[in-house]
Amino acid sequence: MQELTLKDWLDAQMRDFGLDADLVKLLTGVAAVSRDISRLVEAGALGGILGLHGTQNVQGEEQKELDVVSNEMMVKAVFDTGVVAACASEELDHSLPAPAADGVRRPYLICFDPLDGSSNIDINVSIGTIFSVLVNPRSDASAPTDEDFLQPGDRQLAAGYVIYGPQTQMVFTVGRGVNMFTLNPRTGEYILTNANVKVPESAKEFAINCSNMRHWEQPVKRYIAELLEGTTGVRGKDFNMRWVAAMVAEVHRILCRGGIFMYPRDNRDPSRPGKLRLMYEANPMSWLMEQAGGRATNGRTRILGLVPEKLHQRVAVFLGAREEVERVTAYHLEEDGGRC
Ligand code: F6P
Repeated sequence: MQELTLKDWLDAQMRDFGLDADLVKLLTGVAAVSRDISRLVEAGALGGILGLHGTQNVQGEEQKELDVVSNEMMVKAVFDTGVVAACASEELDHSLPAPAADGVRRPYLICFDPLDGSSNIDINVSIGTIFSVLVNPRSDASAPTDEDFLQPGDRQLAAGYVIYGPQTQMVFTVGRGVNMFTLNPRTGEYILTNANVKVPESAKEFAINCSNMRHWEQPVKRYIAELLEGTTGVRGKDFNMRWVAAMVAEVHRILCRGGIFMYPRDNRDPSRPGKLRLMYEANPMSWLMEQAGGRATNGRTRILGLVPEKLHQRVAVFLGAREEVERVTAYHLEEDGGRC
């Protein structure tokens, strides 16, 4: 069978569906830098960049050396494409405008988490890069600010991730389904290996960090208790549980074989509505799920409809199989209705 490279696929999207040439440049830039990040991840201790960097990011999390290096690589790569007016990253306090002051308007903004699942870096477990592309709302060449990024996920133009696992794969959508490309380590070429991926409607697996159970809201406790009861409870079937502690890996598993992923809000800190970040974790992953026939809510409402209030906003996340996300969302709404 003839192999379809990422380049061939993007060319076909331009030709057949009018995919914007500048967006193709950006996706090509992300693919190229992900290849370099993949090599660094693969080298591990031999690359001399494992361990802590000795700093914290804006959310107070310890930065790993590889977080910092991959962030620098992503920033350079997206600006080098010449089509990005500003980028925002988990590792940067504020958005960063493109350095060139040449009076040229650049059409895109991009948000990314350069290395999701950092706690897995030093133990050789899957990690990834997540990205979300938005339109630059400025009609002139002026520098975008954080406020320009505050667009709902429904406005994303491209979104996806690269997973650095046993294989390196780039998975993304431009609004016409979800496609998976696998990096051929010999040629350095991404090859289409799963076209138009679909999430099965019902699930056999769930992913949640159960160590937080005592802090969850009642609807989450109810939903998980029912899953754990298996054949002996109202669900009438057994479920299996997985937790990789890297959202990229959980989402990838769900796209490949189904299931539901949850990171609910909890009552430890009422000012913190969940752990995951809306703009560069929840939004891109939610769009992928919806494009693959799944669902994504914050327990109450569609994540892609939320209007962000700040760049590093956190959000509760329930995503994956349609039936499961609808069920746990219904439990939240029932509980809210009950309180009125
Ligand atoms: O960035 C957040 C993240 O690393 C996700 O990739 C992952 O799903 C989650 O945190 C793991 O959280 P915890 O450490 O609570 O298991």
